[in-house]
Amino acid sequence: MHLVLDVIKNRRSINFFDPHKEISEDILKSLLEIANLAPSSFNLQPWKVIIVRDPNRKRILRKCAFDQPKVEEASVVLIIIADPLAIEENLERVFSSWENLGYMKPEMRDTYKAMVYQLEGEPDSLKRKFFAIKNAALFAMNLMIAARGFGLETHPMDGFDEACIKREFNIPEDKIIPMLIAIGYLKEGVELLPRAFRREIKEFVKSEKYS
Ligand SMILES: Cc1cc2nc3c(=O)[nH]c(=O)nc-3n(C[C@H](O)[C@H](O)[C@H](O)COP(=O)(O)O)c2cc1C
Repeated sequence: MHLVLDVIKNRRSINFFDPHKEISEDILKSLLEIANLAPSSFNLQPWKVIIVRDPNRKRILRKCAFDQPKVEEASVVLIIIADPLAIEENLERVFSSWENLGYMKPEMRDTYKAMVYQLEGEPDSLKRKFFAIKNAALFAMNLMIAARGFGLETHPMDGFDEACIKREFNIPEDKIIPMLIAIGYLKEGVELLPRAFRREIKEFVKSEKYS
């Protein structure tokens, strides 16, 4: 238990990656498998990831990301994609798994399906976009925490031109890019500034009612 608290306390958004250190395929694969254990609405897992590690592709991504140097310096950059159409893609097999494992009785399938569409909206709706983004963000956070378990550092970024990334990386128009995550090893000899301001919890925590 203490371990996970330490990991969260020590995670920082890192600007100084060692540009010469690579992340092995095995580590990256394990990291993605662990991040994939994130919770999601109805277990629908509306995320996709593009791994960008080729120096030429990173250069293009950096241009789309307002020239942020860490995009090229990190070993890999992940383009996190929120997929509003994950319901159409994943629902049947998620429900089959629930049936097979005894989470859901077969006769409840249609009721659950109707509930999903009621809660998460039709494919083009704003509701559906929120569904995709909130769950993809949980995946992203899980990944940043898990990365620390592999001795890796991360940096989330939403400083980019989404249209540019979609164009350059062949991402369909209906997808959403909540953030990029740079991943790599801390550059040797770098000392981080102390963690910046956080509000006291009394500023954002309310008891029982908003007001
Ligand atoms: C969704 C998201 C987008 C961010 N985008 C950028 C970015 O484009 N460039 C940047 O330098 N930092 C970016 N940050 C990093 C934040 O500035 C950083 O998380 C915050 O200052 C707190 O620092 P810490 O993560 O080290 O605790 C982003 C963070 C998040 C969560």
